[in-house]
Amino acid sequence: MDFYRLVRPLLFRADPEDAHRRALGALAWAAEQPWVGRLDSVFGYPDPRLAVKLWGLSFANPLGLAAGFDKNAEALGAWEHLGFGFAEVGTVTRYAQPGNSRPRLFRLPADRAAINRMGFNNGGADALASRLAGRQWGIPIGINLGKSKVTPLEQASDDYLYSFERLYGLGDYFVLNVSSPNTPGLRELQQADRLGEILARLQFANSACKPLLVKIAPDLGWEAIDAVVDLCGEHRLAGVIATNTTIARTGLKSDIQQTGGLSGAPLRTRSTAVVAHIWKRTEGQLPIVGVGGIFSGEDAWEKITHGASLLQVYTGWIYEGPWMVRRILAGLAAHMERSGFKHLQQAVGCAFRQVH
Ligand SMILES: Cc1cc2nc3c(=O)[nH]c(=O)nc-3n(C[C@H](O)[C@H](O)[C@H](O)COP(=O)(O)O)c2cc1C
Repeated sequence: MDFYRLVRPLLFRADPEDAHRRALGALAWAAEQPWVGRLDSVFGYPDPRLAVKLWGLSFANPLGLAAGFDKNAEALGAWEHLGFGFAEVGTVTRYAQPGNSRPRLFRLPADRAAINRMGFNNGGADALASRLAGRQWGIPIGINLGKSKVTPLEQASDDYLYSFERLYGLGDYFVLNVSSPNTPGLRELQQADRLGEILARLQFANSACKPLLVKIAPDLGWEAIDAVVDLCGEHRLAGVIATNTTIARTGLKSDIQQTGGLSGAPLRTRSTAVVAHIWKRTEGQLPIVGVGGIFSGEDAWEKITHGASLLQVYTGWIYEGPWMVRRILAGLAAHMERSGFKHLQQAVGCAFRQVH
């Protein structure tokens, strides 16, 4: 079955961003074909035990596509047929922007990792709204919001609010991204006073009480994470996405000197530690989306048992290919079988509970 492992060396010969563009183009094309539904039987893993109900939304399984892969929702119709339980588009900013100059995406095969400094290249909130308007999707869709590079930090809340209101009717949940390392100053918005202002304005505009989450960096210290988590409670946020890419470079085998965010396998342990910390701090009361270095069912199970209710992948999908989703879901199902859980939700945080 592992056709992807055979073709990967060929794919990896291409420039990573070109390869990404081509893959997205092919998926966008596939999504419009009458046979797209047949992909379900190839890539899907239907198993009612893996279904998750959260925020009034139904997820057929807990594994989602992380933000950044399909920033402009070009291939949004494809993800549900590739087995994903949900997909997050964006990061989208108020103004369209080209991002940083290329090259800005690097593979680190020896580490099963990537470094990127894309810088929120995207078509802007208005273009995304036109693309999404009037369409229906078979899975929940999240919209990840960022700050435009031209907008000063002091006006960040105006920028986020514009995109939130413009896209409000078009997403099932929204994410405030204050954790990308590639927009100067952005991560300062994780500081309690700045974040509090943005959350207050967005929640005031959130008339239908749509789930609003905040996505955090793995590089925050425990106290800073606690401050964000406390704010989430204060502003009635729906959850936290932990984590974005890291600026740390510890333990890499690759000899690469590039600035940007590191993703993939080297991020796994830290992002799981952040998930676990938040779960313990909130006694499991704040839903967590676990993301960072998930490649296998084992990795996914680790995130769930340490407190994640939902999961996302990006870099793993590049390395493992489209069959990865099915493999991960089968792996989760096997773990549940072994531990005697009937529904995945029972396993969330079980590493810290005296259940079995
Ligand atoms: C090329 C690339 C672009 C990304 N762009 C975004 C983005 O626009 N917004 C965002 O919130 N996260 C972005 N991310 C971070 C991912 O969503 C995810 O949090 C991170 O890569 C860790 O997961 P992984 O180890 O499965 O890749 C990006 C990651 C990569 C590799």
